[in-house]
Amino acid sequence: MRKPEPRLRRKLLAWLLGPLVVLLVLDTGAAYWNSLRFSDLAYDRALYEIGREIVLHVKLDGNRPRLDLSEAASNILLLDQEDLLFFRVVGEDGATLGGDAELPPPQRGGEPGKPRVYRDTVRGEPVRMLVAWMPVGADAATPKVLVQVAETLHKRTRLAWEMVANVVVPQLLLIVMATAVVWFGVSRGLEPLQRLRRAVSDRSHLDLSPIDTHDVPGEVRPLVDEVNELMARLGRTFDFQSRFVADAAHQLKTPVSGLKAQIELALRENDAERVRHSLAQLYISADRLSRLVRQLLSLARNEPGALDAMQLQPLDLNAYALEVSMDWVPQALKRDIDLGFEGVEHPLVINADRDRLRELINNLIDNAIRYSQPSGRVTVRVTRSDGDHCRLAISDDGPSVPVEERARIFERFHRLLGTQEDGSGLGLAIVSEIATLHGARITLEEDIDGVGNTFSVFFPLRAA
Ligand SMILES: Nc1ncnc2c1ncn2[C@@H]1O[C@H](COP(=O)(O)OP(=O)(O)OP(=O)(O)O)[C@@H](O)[C@H]1O
Ligand SMILES: [Mg+2]
Repeated sequence: MRKPEPRLRRKLLAWLLGPLVVLLVLDTGAAYWNSLRFSDLAYDRALYEIGREIVLHVKLDGNRPRLDLSEAASNILLLDQEDLLFFRVVGEDGATLGGDAELPPPQRGGEPGKPRVYRDTVRGEPVRMLVAWMPVGADAATPKVLVQVAETLHKRTRLAWEMVANVVVPQLLLIVMATAVVWFGVSRGLEPLQRLRRAVSDRSHLDLSPIDTHDVPGEVRPLVDEVNELMARLGRTFDFQSRFVADAAHQLKTPVSGLKAQIELALRENDAERVRHSLAQLYISADRLSRLVRQLLSLARNEPGALDAMQLQPLDLNAYALEVSMDWVPQALKRDIDLGFEGVEHPLVINADRDRLRELINNLIDNAIRYSQPSGRVTVRVTRSDGDHCRLAISDDGPSVPVEERARIFERFHRLLGTQEDGSGLGLAIVSEIATLHGARITLEEDIDGVGNTFSVFFPLRAA
């Protein structure tokens, strides 16, 4: 069996971690950019101080500046553990007074009092470059020199990364913790579902008792309730089916044993005339059996779940009832029964499945002809009963069905005691099922004059 929980867990984690990781990446970028700005701010000041220090070593020869910086003093000034430092001093006339001649010329600006710091490259290495005009003496009138100081970026980058790490590492830890919490939380949360799964999979296929909802989480409860409801429906259908199979087997047993007995008798017969007689009897029995089988099949076909297989279409009940009744004229004539039809002038359209409706009418007319006395009268009537229903009524003038039997004759296999005619007792059960499938209602009353029976079926009219 497939385990559903890893998918849920993966989904939850994806929803949680996706945004968190995106946030972390954005945050790292922003933190790096900010840290770099702060470290630049701090180290740029130091560059400026070095520039001022260098200018202290510029002396004036009259009005001409000259850099007086020994090798040793320069080394001390530019000493740094991590980075390389370069400098150059240029006079107002553009002549280099000292320092590293290879430094690229200032990009722009560097007006007096407004030092500029920017990124550049020296010997292929990225550097931070300070450019500033500084006065040689304290006097504002003294000449100025242009000082350039450049420094590689190692300690700035390191500082920036250290600051980023301080921000990002706790966040990373938080994400790892959240993952762990979700991972274990989901496992724990799904435990009742696992138990539920085991309870269902350990069940026998015959056990349709409801699942215990005692320890089921609230979110899953409606689902389990639905499953229980479905099981209850399945249980009812199972009961219905097994009762039907038992009934059918019981009903088939008697005629089949009868057939066997008749065949044995016929086999022992020597007289040709009597054999013929036995065969004629056998034919009648086989015919009865075949009707029973047909009715059983019809009952199974129209069971309550058959709604999906119905082919409902608009149908004029008036015309259709007349058409079906006409088929019964030969049968009625045989029994000298006066079969009549009374309809209405205009069509009465209902939604019906043609074949099933024919079966319903056939069963009712068959009963009326069979159970009323010979030379009787059977009338099929179609009328409008009220605003949105029409009525199909089949009346006979035979012996009335006793009041206490009126409900029971619609049950399967129920027949009136003392009925002489053949029958399986299924016709009215089929009629009742077909009526239900059509949303129709059946009643049984005495005929108007107090004798005979009127079976009425009330169909909903199709909305215009
Ligand atoms: N019009 C009727 N007049 C008198 N009794 C009837 C009439 N219709 C039905 N019954 C009684 O109701 C019983 C049940 O009828 P139903 O049509 O269900 O079964 P059936 O006619 O015996 O068998 P099947 O129709 O399956 O061959 C009949 O056996 C009969 O006793
Ligand atoms: Mg019948």
